[in-house]
Formats: sequence, C-alpha cells, structure tokens
Amino acid sequence: MNVTVIFGSDGGATKGVASKISKKCQGRSVDIKTATKADFENCELLILGSPTYGDGTLQTDWEENIDKLRAAKLGGKKVALFGTGDQATYPDSFVDAMGILYDEVTELGAVVVGFTETSGYDYSNSTAERDGQFVGLALDQDGQSGMTEKRVTAWLSKLL
Ligand SMILES: Cc1cc2nc3c(=O)[nH]c(=O)nc-3n(C[C@H](O)[C@H](O)[C@H](O)COP(=O)(O)O)c2cc1C
Repeated sequence: MNVTVIFGSDGGATKGVASKISKKCQGRSVDIKTATKADFENCELLILGSPTYGDGTLQTDWEENIDKLRAAKLGGKKVALFGTGDQATYPDSFVDAMGILYDEVTELGAVVVGFTETSGYDYSNSTAERDGQFVGLALDQDGQSGMTEKRVTAWLSKLL
C-alpha cells in the first residue's frame, strides 16, 4: 500500500515517530511545512501526526498550514492519525491535537481508520477519545517511550 505520513514537530519527537512509521510501511514522511496538496491526495493511506501544545492545541506548523489540509480532496479517503503527548504533565489534554485532526478530516469526508484502546494510559481527559477509544494511535515519548515500538507495530499490522 502506498503510504504518506505528514507530521509537524517542534522538538523532534513526532518527526522521529513519523520516520519510524514510514520506514515500517515503505512510505514517505513529509513535514507539514513543506507538504503539498498532492502529498495529501496521492496515496492510498494518509497518516497524519501532531504533538499537542498549549492546553490542547495543534503544533504550530499544523496551525499555520491547516489550509493545505482543508484544501485537499479527502472525501472517501482512508486516513489514520497519531498523536504524541505527555499524559503525566498534561493529563487534562492528553493528545488533544489528534482529536482536532480527527474533526478536520472527518469534516472533509475522510474515512478514519486505526482507532485504538485507551487501556495502558493514565490521563483524565482527551478530546482524542471518542466513545471510549482513541481516534488514532496515542504515543507518549516523554513517559512511555519504551512502549512506542510495540504500539506502532501493532497499530500498523491492523492498518496495512
Ligand atoms: C509547552 C508545552 C505544552 C504541552 N501541552 C501538551 C498537552 O496539552 N497535551 C499533551 O498530551 N502533551 C503536551 N505537551 C507534550 C508534547 O506534546 C510532547 O512532549 C511531544 O512529544 C512533543 O513533540 P515534538 O518533539 O515533536 O514537538 C506539551 C509540551 C510542552 C513543552
């Protein structure tokens, strides 16, 4: 399957996860800063990833380039999401950016795949949790980096 991963990253954690994911599925990893409309559209599976900043906002490059996403034709397209966050320090807005991306792509008519269980995490609130599941893959590189490899592998094995 032809996979494109589009990410934003301030400190590099999300960029690292995006590379890991794209390598495992022989896909491409593209920074939202340089992503084009074609990057969103010309793939069979589009994977979007963002860390959460502030009190539950998208990463800045995502915010500044959100019109690129909004201009993409994603109706009926298979989209999967991942979010990086820190559940111990920000338990009330854990991986909220993933919830924001979910609302954006759902609005565009995308078919979101790759929901995951919330067990194994310890947080109070997340807008990325809908009906008891995360809308994508939640990763905590600050407190649970040791679990990332296993979580990514299990998630991709279901997606691909
Ligand atoms: C100022 C600040 C605010 C943050 N706010 C949140 C938050 O609301 N929710 C969350 O889950 N993580 C939050 N985080 C944690 C980051 O999302 C996490 O460290 C992430 O791995 C950073 O990714 P990056 O290195 O790709 O930028 C915050 C981190 C910082 C420094």
